[in-house]
Amino acid sequence: MIMRTVSFDGSFAGWRCIARQLLEQDVAPSEISWQTEHLVGDLFAGTSEQPETVSSAIRVPKQLAELLSLAACYRHAQRWALLYRVLWRVVRGDQAAMLAGDEDGSELHRWAKAVRRETHHLHAFLRFKHRGEHSGNPQYVAWHEPAHDVLALAAPHFCNRMGNTSWLIATPEAVALWDGKTLAFKAPCPVELQALAKQQRDDGESLWLAYYASTFNPARANPKVMTGHMPKRFWKDLPEGPLIPALLSEARTGTQRTAQAKTVSEQAGKTVPVSAEEVLPVREQLSTLDTCRRCPLWQKATQAVPGEGPLNARLFLVGEQPGDHEDLLGRPFMGPAGQVLDQAIQDAGLQREALYLTNAVKHFKWTPQGRRRKHVTPTTEIAPCRHWLEQELDNVKPDVIVALGATALESLTGKKQGSLAMYMGQATQWKGRRLIVTYHPSYILRVPEEAKREQAQAALTAALVQARQLLEQ
Ligand code: URA
Repeated sequence: MIMRTVSFDGSFAGWRCIARQLLEQDVAPSEISWQTEHLVGDLFAGTSEQPETVSSAIRVPKQLAELLSLAACYRHAQRWALLYRVLWRVVRGDQAAMLAGDEDGSELHRWAKAVRRETHHLHAFLRFKHRGEHSGNPQYVAWHEPAHDVLALAAPHFCNRMGNTSWLIATPEAVALWDGKTLAFKAPCPVELQALAKQQRDDGESLWLAYYASTFNPARANPKVMTGHMPKRFWKDLPEGPLIPALLSEARTGTQRTAQAKTVSEQAGKTVPVSAEEVLPVREQLSTLDTCRRCPLWQKATQAVPGEGPLNARLFLVGEQPGDHEDLLGRPFMGPAGQVLDQAIQDAGLQREALYLTNAVKHFKWTPQGRRRKHVTPTTEIAPCRHWLEQELDNVKPDVIVALGATALESLTGKKQGSLAMYMGQATQWKGRRLIVTYHPSYILRVPEEAKREQAQAALTAALVQARQLLEQ
């Protein structure tokens, strides 16, 4: 038997066209080796054509046409071979091939079901972020990582929902663009659109997070059911995702346990001896920083916030400690101070993703003020937390370090420095690295006078420019 290698563009429309020719030539499935070329450009051109008729002579049941178009979105090495095998069998009168009781049919149904489910996941777990009033088109952007090629199936749903508001949905493979009138797709998704969709922040995000955390009902939290409905792989792209482990863990070990302990302790009767090991709560695997008890800050913080950035970053920025947003999200510089820093990074011609961002202290130190958590400057916590900063410096081995504010400088040098002013504007040598000292972004936010605030922001940008120039030398 001679094997034919059939190459096509990897789209359902492309496959259908070739399958039609092969059926007409009576080529058996076992004679074909399917090969896809990388799809470039308008991903779904031609898919709107109805797939019911494969050729004038060959008729395909509508139900099969639907099943095939769904199963074609399932990522599997054998996807095109299975589709053709079922089609070939049905066209030759073997209707069982499309039934769930048949070996091929059951696989086809399973794939179609998985694709429907993944389409639902995209509808349910996509979060559009608003780009601000004056950012132009698209007004909303979203990032999603589907397990199957469901973007084209799922995207039209948002055209109805969002009306003439423009948006884009970027995925690692492709992008869907809606300008308020027309829906277009492109593959691959340009890297700048990927970056835009991944990094965009939303003005309403902190409000949503506060709402989510406050309406989370620990007594009703069932992690198994929850992960069944919302698989963990989506958590990282949901704004509320980073909150979920802490909320679940608190539900298991905190609120719920306290409530139970109270009820149980009020009951009369004998005590039942249990081993300490058996009653240990089941928790997510904790990293060493997560379990840090070097100072008492962990007791009131949601989570420890580690540094973030590539391990080969040459520029290393040290802040003070996570703030309210960072504590909830588990990432450094995500709140208002992060926006000031992002602006300076951009103005200095740098890219946030290329830098390593961290803090001198890894837990949020705060005190209640009304319904808010008010930031408190760390003091005695700086020395015990230096352990983690040194570990990060050892891992990253940056060439240039920028200390943002006095806490960062104290942590790096190991002693309290009199004033920032004596370091500002110069690059000192420190442990074989260049150290630049500048204002902390939160300080800039607090400067009341506009002109002075602008000066401070310019000093922050200048420090980053200086760092960039040192690296370029
Ligand atoms: N301030 C900091 O010092 N670090 C953060 O991560 C956020 C605000």
